[in-house]
Formats: sequence, structure tokens, C-alpha cells
Amino acid sequence: MDRIIIRGGNRLSGRIPISGAKNSALTLIPCALLTDEPLTLRNLPRLADIDSFQHLMNQFGVSTAIAGSRPEDFGRVMTLQATRITSTVAPYDIVRKMRASILVLGPLLARAGEATVSLPGGCAIGNRPIDLHLKVLEAMGADIEIAAGYVRASAPDGGLPGGTYSFPVVSVGATENALMAASLAQGTTILRNAAREPEIIDLCNLLVEMGADIEGIGTSDITIHGVPRLHGATYEVMPDRIEAGSYACAAAITGGDVDLVGARANEMDATLEALIEMGLHVEPYKKGVKVAANAPLKAVRLNTAPYPGLATDMQAQLMALLCKADGNSVLTETIFENRYMHVPELNRMGAHIDVDGHTAVVRGVDRLTGAPVMATDLRASMSLVIAGLAAEGQTELNRIYHLDRGYERLEEKLQAVGADIERVGGD
Ligand code: UD1
Repeated sequence: MDRIIIRGGNRLSGRIPISGAKNSALTLIPCALLTDEPLTLRNLPRLADIDSFQHLMNQFGVSTAIAGSRPEDFGRVMTLQATRITSTVAPYDIVRKMRASILVLGPLLARAGEATVSLPGGCAIGNRPIDLHLKVLEAMGADIEIAAGYVRASAPDGGLPGGTYSFPVVSVGATENALMAASLAQGTTILRNAAREPEIIDLCNLLVEMGADIEGIGTSDITIHGVPRLHGATYEVMPDRIEAGSYACAAAITGGDVDLVGARANEMDATLEALIEMGLHVEPYKKGVKVAANAPLKAVRLNTAPYPGLATDMQAQLMALLCKADGNSVLTETIFENRYMHVPELNRMGAHIDVDGHTAVVRGVDRLTGAPVMATDLRASMSLVIAGLAAEGQTELNRIYHLDRGYERLEEKLQAVGADIERVGGD
């Protein structure tokens, strides 16, 4: 298995191009199921999760073609066409590898009247149930059964009537499933306490391009008037705000400066505010954001929360950075239980982090030391890369397939700003 070797201590400086957002791409791709016309998505990141989703779409009879980009370019263009849906089953083998597969439930149900999707099963960052996905679709008139590890959803003859649902907790994925299904429903759907993440807005914008009728985009109360047909579109995936935030942390921990080319500051307010509070210089400009560490890092208190709060997907990376801050920081994870699996690994690198329930206290240290470490999930892996960049000596990161799910050409981007990082093949 491949490993990543980092020899820490280099100050990072330069430009990093920000790729298309993984989490956005994973909800835009299933929109192809909503129409028999072609959907072309530009700026898709080259990631293992995107390849898995393409494979999943092929299972339903959707044709996919990648065009228009050379291997050395960032981003890809994919055209998907679901002229006819030949299967409505999402098998266990694919769903277990990629939780986002659950996002085919809504569109398959709306277009084909039925969907059978494997339950995703446990996940490294907590239980991650899908009850809200099922409840909102039920509220829209779907009939849901669970048997033999699969969810089977069906719509009444003539399609989903639509309905009103108030989410008890904010769920990005369940809001996405509901939006896709509601766009092709017979009647009107009202979603209350819906997620407001920028990726949700990206999805709504694509659906509107395809002919959907949606009110309240970007707010927590969304009204969708179903339309009988959606049509094809060409759409560019938004930049990855989490990738951008991750590289800001990477540069900052080395005392460096970085130009996050293509990042949109207005979609990363909470992360940028946290960085400013830590004493970093943050300068948004028209086509990106510059971040520089000109002073010692200050300790801070941070809570993750649904957007516009601080993204849970930034918690691990910010924690790595806070390991080198002056004083004690307190981080509280409010979205997922069990999302501190990077803590023992960071501590093995010389960090002082204590976890009590949802709260982690990070005592800043003067030095981190390289060590062999094990990645447990995507963002946890990135936090270990960040720590490794500032650590004395060599860090060897194992199980890097997690990183390949979410960071396009990680080593290349970091090498270009001065990091000593390489991928080596294992036995
Ligand atoms: C998405 C993102 C993920 C991010 C998360 C929160 C994608 C592919 N993934 O995940 O990177 O960390 O949003 O910003 O976009 N919940 C339930 N029942 C449900 C669904 C969710 O109880 O049916 C709970 C979850 O356990 C969690 C909270 O709701 O505590 C938020 O989860 P949710 O927003 O749904 O996360 P995902 O959409 O899975």
C-alpha cells in the first residue's frame, strides 16, 4: 500500500490552485438521473470518490464520458446522460465504499418511481444514520421499506406528491436528497430547517439551470414547486472550500504564506475568522484568498456548527494547527460523535491534546516530532499531513487511500509551495 513521507520544517510559500469541491460534485453528479438529456459538469476534481460515483451511475444505465482535459490539468469535464434508467439498485459493494451513494435515492425515486439502495453501514466518524433522508422522502409521499440491508423506496403511480418536512437537525445529505426528489415531484415541497451549506446552493443553482422551480435558495426554508420535466445543462462545480481551508492551515503551521487561487472567501467565513483570531493575515481578493503567518499563533476556542458556522470538515486540520499555538485552545465538535480519531496520532507526534466527550483541549507545544502515523478518515489524514509539515524529522503516513478520496494531487500541490513530501509504494 502507498505511503506518504513528509520531512517537516520547510516554510511553505506560493500559489495553490483550488480544485472543484468534492462534496458539491458528489451531489451534482446524481442530478443526471433527473433528465434524459446530457448533463455536463466542469471542474470536477480527480478523486477516487468521483470515480466510484461514475461507476455507480453506470450501474443505472447512465452513460458517462470524460473529455476536454489533459492528465496534467486540474479538473475534468464529465458528460452524463440517463437516456433510460436500466436499473434502480445501488449495490452494497459500491455504497459501502462511498457514503454519498445514498444521494441517488431521491433522484432515482423521482425519475423512475422506485429505488433500492444499500444501507451505508457504520462509518469511521460516528454512526451516521440515514433516518432523515428516509423521513423527508416519506413526508413527500414515498413508501419506504427496509429489508436485508437495503432501503426500498417507491413513489405512488403518477409520482411523488410532495409535502412539508421540518428537519429536527440540520442534514446536508438529507436536504440534498429532498431537493433532487422534490424538483420532479407532482406538487410543492416545503423544507424547514434545511441545510444552507454553499454546496446546497451549488445544487440548487444546477437544478434551476435544469428547469427546477426553487424559492428560498441559501435560506433554511426552501420551497420547491415540482415540474414535470427537467432538461440538460452545463455547469461548473464550485471551488472546494475545505481543500482551501486545509492548505491555509498547512501554510500557517510552517509560518508560511499561500495564495489559494480560486478560493471564495465568502464561502469560508467561519474558517477565515478562526484563522484571523489565531493571528494570521487573511486577504481575500477577486480570484482567491491569501493567507500569511507573520506572528506567533494564538490559542482560540472553536465550535463546529452547521453553515454558516465552522465546518466540521475543518476541525481536524485546525486542531493540527492549534498544536503549535501559544496557550490552550478548546475545540468542540457538535456535528459528529467520534470525530477525534486524529488525536492519538497527533499526540504521538508530540501534541498535548485531551478529549472529554465532544470537547478537546489542545495545549500548544513548541515542537512536534515526525512519526509513523495511521490515517483513519479523510480530514483526520489531512491533519496528520499538516502536523507532519511542521514536525522535526520524518512523518510516514499510512492508509493514504483516505486522502485520495478528497484531495486532488495533494503531494504535487504541496511540493509546488516548497514542502518535502512524496508518495512511495509499499509492499
Ligand atoms: C456532509 C458532507 C460531510 C460533512 C457533513 C457535515 C458530503 C458528501 N459530505 O455529510 O463531508 O462532514 O455534511 O457538514 O457532502 N444525521 C442523522 N440522520 C440522517 C442524516 C444525518 O441523524 O439521516 C446527523 C448526522 O449523524 C450528523 C448530522 O446529522 O450528526 C449532520 O450530518 P449530515 O449533514 O447529514 O452529513 P452528511 O450529509 O452525511
